[in-house]
Amino acid sequence: MIKLSPSILAADFLNLGEEIRQTDQAGTQYIHVDVMDGVFVPSISFGMPILSAVRSITQKFLDVHLMIVHPEKYIEEFVACGADCITFHVEACECVEETLQTIKRLGIKAGLSISPDTPVEAVFPFLHLVDMILIMTVHPGYGGQQFIPACREKVVQLRDYLNQHSLDLDIEVDGGIKIENVKMILEAGANVIVAGSAVFEKERTAENTKEFLKLFGEWEEETAE
Ligand code: DX5
Ligand code: ZN
Repeated sequence: MIKLSPSILAADFLNLGEEIRQTDQAGTQYIHVDVMDGVFVPSISFGMPILSAVRSITQKFLDVHLMIVHPEKYIEEFVACGADCITFHVEACECVEETLQTIKRLGIKAGLSISPDTPVEAVFPFLHLVDMILIMTVHPGYGGQQFIPACREKVVQLRDYLNQHSLDLDIEVDGGIKIENVKMILEAGANVIVAGSAVFEKERTAENTKEFLKLFGEWEEETAE
């Protein structure tokens, strides 16, 4: 099933509860929480207190994307704050295998991410330990950037590799995804779609969420035939 994961980085923080309620009630399956440390990426976003606050108002699957160095130091805390999946960057961690094992041992899903300049082969050694691979389609650090077309090929490559090895993992894509370009990324083989500005823009959070979900439903019907 194709899932939507609206990134709250693009939400109106003065109305964060209401923004989440809107996308939740409109039917989103996931909520994407972008944590940035100002070291792995240039900007700083938010961390544990916001995740706990989000957890307190929704039962939806909380998809936490760590754009931080030494993610291994913070796994237990993010789990305690209510994460359902923690994804960290292969480029930011020297103990990828152990960190994935820690996440799994704590009983939640584990994801591994690659930035646009990292080849998809970088995640191949870890596929047996993860539930999801996150392929960044912009350089991590900011919302509202343009989708990088060359990243689409990595999704195709990974889906082929997973099929060849009979692995049924989720492929998430993140960055610059809009209603207008989401179909070509579904075609490539992604099944978890992050959208920040395209969901939370123009005070149309519920409508935008529904529009994505409608398109996913139509796509699933088309491809099931
Ligand atoms: C970028 C973040 C993304 C971002 C997506 O570093 O990981 O999740 O919020 O925002 P849009 O959809 O606006 O590109
Ligand atoms: Zn993200």
